[in-house]
Amino acid sequence: MANERQFSAVQSGLIERYRTWLPIESGDPVVSLGEGSTPLVQAPVLSARFDCEVWIKVEGANPTGSFKDRGMTMAVSKAKAEGAQAVVCASTGNTSASAAAYAVRAGMKPIVLLPQGKIAKGKLAQAIVYGAQIVQVDGNFDECLTVARKLAEAYPVALVNSVNPFRLEGQKTAAFEIVDALGDAPDLHVMPIGNAGNMPAYWRGFKQYADAGKATKRPRMWAVQAEGAAPLVLGHPVLNPETIATAIRIGNPASADLANAARDESGGQFTAVSDEQILAAQRFLAAHEGIFVEPASASGIAALLAAHAAGELESGQRITITVTGNGLKDIDTALSGIDIRTEVVAPEAMAVADAIGLA
Ligand code: F0G
Repeated sequence: MANERQFSAVQSGLIERYRTWLPIESGDPVVSLGEGSTPLVQAPVLSARFDCEVWIKVEGANPTGSFKDRGMTMAVSKAKAEGAQAVVCASTGNTSASAAAYAVRAGMKPIVLLPQGKIAKGKLAQAIVYGAQIVQVDGNFDECLTVARKLAEAYPVALVNSVNPFRLEGQKTAAFEIVDALGDAPDLHVMPIGNAGNMPAYWRGFKQYADAGKATKRPRMWAVQAEGAAPLVLGHPVLNPETIATAIRIGNPASADLANAARDESGGQFTAVSDEQILAAQRFLAAHEGIFVEPASASGIAALLAAHAAGELESGQRITITVTGNGLKDIDTALSGIDIRTEVVAPEAMAVADAIGLA
């Protein structure tokens, strides 16, 4: 009991909420920061524009600001149960932030491999402040992951990338939450995809709930990449992936087979959007729906806006969109190309009214 208290949070996390659906044993420690139970927010402006019922699953509301916490509570709890002293991961930023937080929470040492210069500053700050041992690698994410796998084979460190099967088990709970909130599965679920763990995790969640009679249907799964890093759309790896959406700057997704199966079984699709479309969607979502997400997270919105503009989005659907990470993680990209007003006025109502055109 004392041991359990040591790891618990006031808001119990997703392991407690969905324990019977997860491969967690009664004696396993639960390493939690109160993750999950994130807001599912109605999107009135998108709903009106698409003539659909649109809901946004705001995963940036997790403890470290991204959906990775769902997988990490499971992976780190299991690593702790197995007696691991250290965890290792390759990351485009969010996995490293999450791994670092959950590892220190469990009294373990976090080691993170990052593609040098390609990590949003907020995520790097997280890894630093959580106290991770950071190794910047002169290579991209795919190369980092290859090295992380080899380290975990050769040394006593637990790999907590999404190739760790417990990660996807934790992440499937987001699909449970959507069905629990709406009373059924949506017609269509849209989300970004990078290393391809999260989309099959959702598919598993939707399938398990439908099989158990908790939903009457399963959604079509639509996963979105950036044009410069679109191996799943192209059907082959991309050697030098490039996009401003650094979270999904991935050329050789580790779980491509699972993602292809999820697309096929669900009757879904992979599409790609340009960096410009991603930035426009990021601003649209913030300015119209009040939700500020990081660039990668806006790719699903971008794809829907593009499909609607092309007359390819069927009306009358119930659509859920996962936005995967918080906008504050990458303010450099959010502010790029924006002329920030530098005018300074006197602390007087008249002066301010004048400056904003009220006077
Ligand atoms: N959105 C964000 C914000 C991400 O950080 C990631 C992946 C994805 C979407 C794609 O999810 O890889 O399961 O298909 N980020 C990983 C990381 C690669 O290292 O943080 P996926």
